[in-house]
Amino acid sequence: MGQVRDFIAGLPKAELHLHIEGTLEPELKFELAARNGLELPYANVEEMRAAYTFDSLPSFLRIYYEGMEVLRTEPDFYDLAMAYLRKAAEQNVRYAEIFFDPQAHTSRGVPFDVVVRGLRRALMDAHARLGVRAQLIMCFLRDFQAEYAMATLLESLPYKEWIVGVGLDSDEHGNPPRKFAAVYERARQEGYLLTMHCDVDQDDAVEHIRQAVEEIGVDRIDHGVNLLEDTGLVEEVMKRGMGLTCCPISNGFVTPTMKAEAIRKLIDLGVRVTINSDDPAYFSGYVQENLEALQEALQLTPGELADLERNAFEIAWLPRHLKDAYLAEIDAYAS
Ligand code: ADE
Ligand code: ZN
Repeated sequence: MGQVRDFIAGLPKAELHLHIEGTLEPELKFELAARNGLELPYANVEEMRAAYTFDSLPSFLRIYYEGMEVLRTEPDFYDLAMAYLRKAAEQNVRYAEIFFDPQAHTSRGVPFDVVVRGLRRALMDAHARLGVRAQLIMCFLRDFQAEYAMATLLESLPYKEWIVGVGLDSDEHGNPPRKFAAVYERARQEGYLLTMHCDVDQDDAVEHIRQAVEEIGVDRIDHGVNLLEDTGLVEEVMKRGMGLTCCPISNGFVTPTMKAEAIRKLIDLGVRVTINSDDPAYFSGYVQENLEALQEALQLTPGELADLERNAFEIAWLPRHLKDAYLAEIDAYAS
């Protein structure tokens, strides 16, 4: 395992499914609470971590939204993103596509531009200082009304150059992709690339994937492991060259297992599977730990691990010449 762990550590990696608010570690939460004069309902870091008990998507989301109340000012968002990007650089993440949830902030009075400017400034500094490239994906909260998503989309337009695409997250129950058809149509017209969460083992999971692919026409799917249950849909996804951003450790928190066997089957079918970390501060595992966990469950070879990262750069929202440069880094490393 030591050798495999070292191989994973040195492998040039891309992270494509990472909620920046889900990287808020307890230590930084306390720091930001103190900075903003806020009292937290926990005495210390250990007590806070001990309260991270969830076994479903809604039970996780409650703690996730509560946690981000310490984020108030532009420097808070800068520090949050910079802390993640430092961690990413340590793990040899060469490129990250980072989700942010503007409505989780605007809904409690934090202006959109405070959020986006803080994050953007961290991305610029991290590229210059750490050599990690990153782009932002703006997610709509699917348990809010579609009209609020549309208003958020319109609010984002002055910052279009800073946002590569849109996503959809939060509680999937009763909030199908179709609810956001008009928002996604407008987002496409505005030049955004399109992804959305189809979380693991949710009610109507397969139907939601079908809507995402066939009705909305997303460019890729976040999670999407239940795709396996519909062979016709698997074929359609492969025909379109779409990828899935899977998150093994996260799966183990919202369902009974990591879904390693399902991920294996999707890989064997030739679907472009990628391995990511989702909300690493809550699920205690960044991309390195997710790759290690999957490797251990499936006994993946170094060649297979390298292929997972090749998939990630292939489906990344980067121009061809940058994808090729990162793929060449993998080839040089793996040979
Ligand atoms: N928000 C943050 N992480 C999420 C996840 N895994 N699914 C849905 N919404 C989320
Ligand atoms: Zn997610």
